[in-house]
Amino acid sequence: MANPSILILAGDGIGPEVMTEVKKVINWFGAKRDVAFDVSEDLVGGAAYDVHGVPLSDETMAKAQEVDAVLLGAVGGPKYDVLDFSVKPERGLLRLRKEMDLYSNLRPAQCFDALADFSSLKKDVVAGLDIMIVRELTSGIYFGEPRGIIVENNERVGINTQRYTESEIERVARSAFELAKRRGNKVCSMEKANVMESGILWREVVQRVHDEEYPEVELSHMYADAGAMQLCRAPKQFDVIVTDNLFGDLLSDAAAMLTGSLGMLPSASLGAPMANGRPKAMYEPVHGSAPDIAGQGKANPIACILSFSMALRYSFDLGAEADRLEAAVEKVLADGVRTADLLGPEGGVPVSTSEMGDKIIEALDASL
Ligand code: NAD
Ligand code: IPM
Ligand code: MN
Repeated sequence: MANPSILILAGDGIGPEVMTEVKKVINWFGAKRDVAFDVSEDLVGGAAYDVHGVPLSDETMAKAQEVDAVLLGAVGGPKYDVLDFSVKPERGLLRLRKEMDLYSNLRPAQCFDALADFSSLKKDVVAGLDIMIVRELTSGIYFGEPRGIIVENNERVGINTQRYTESEIERVARSAFELAKRRGNKVCSMEKANVMESGILWREVVQRVHDEEYPEVELSHMYADAGAMQLCRAPKQFDVIVTDNLFGDLLSDAAAMLTGSLGMLPSASLGAPMANGRPKAMYEPVHGSAPDIAGQGKANPIACILSFSMALRYSFDLGAEADRLEAAVEKVLADGVRTADLLGPEGGVPVSTSEMGDKIIEALDASL
């Protein structure tokens, strides 16, 4: 049987830098664990625009639809700020999410013990934190129509539309309840039903899916603004948070800082099962292309490496190998190894992007 296939889209800025470290990890699994993948690479974002004049070519889109999993680095950068909106690097990423129908975006925020002192919150607030934000990824205000900039009464008006169908809410709610069953059995749904009709519908539908299909899971509802406050005040009260596209974007960046750095947060974007039973899937760090540190060997590759770990778990049914990789990351952090974003007053062993990758490989070797 052919090996499972992975398409790597490293993208822009620190994307290719962190992806180089992920490739070391993929090669290690092939060589040492007999877990081999057919890996191909292509362009996305500004890198694709430079070559094709579009941030994602139709050929690359077609390849992404065929592989077992896509690994994406990051897109965007100041060089592309001047481009027309329709060809901005971020449009390439949004096209992948939409056309692959990756409606359930899993953004775990886990505080490794070694980093508990480093969070901007008090240690006892974050130590042992392990929450999962499930962000709806293919609808809501990111994609709703009408949208655009029009002229009305001699001035320009910017328009975006928040729009959710019942079935869109149902499917992401199911995905959150399914995850909760395998974790702490608790879901908190966040919207603004106090001011938005889409929020009213969101709350009703999540409640109905719960009552009809998952009555054994504990469900609560929170307004998203209060949710942001609670996430900073007492994040350990949460297990799974399910929310819409825009609130999920904001809440997951906030959750990143609970763990110490945006450079630590992986994500999985999952869709419906393909013919082979695997879900359509793309894995990417939560962070962006970090133009301020690109090209300097400073980027933390852990978010991207942990995204590959999520691929092992969710696409390839290799949970034990994912555990191995996560334990290797934990070991390296416990040894005090730190990229610049993780260096605080308590010090540590400062390393570059590639040295961090090498340390993780050493820890993987030690796990055998
Ligand atoms: P960003 O995530 O790129 O950077 C925010 C801050 O976090 C910066 O100070 C950066 O240096 C730091 N940071 C991010 N990742 C890091 C890492 N791995 N290691 C160490 N430090 C890290 O967000 P931004 O600056 O708002 O956006 C920059 C560009 O990236 C924009 O074009 C934006 O649209 C794009 N972006 C892309 C994605 C994606 O591809 N998924 C996500 C977010 C932003
Ligand atoms: C993310 C990013 C993207 C988003 C951008 C780059 C399109 O911020 O993945 O969190 O807004 O979804
Ligand atoms: Mn974001």
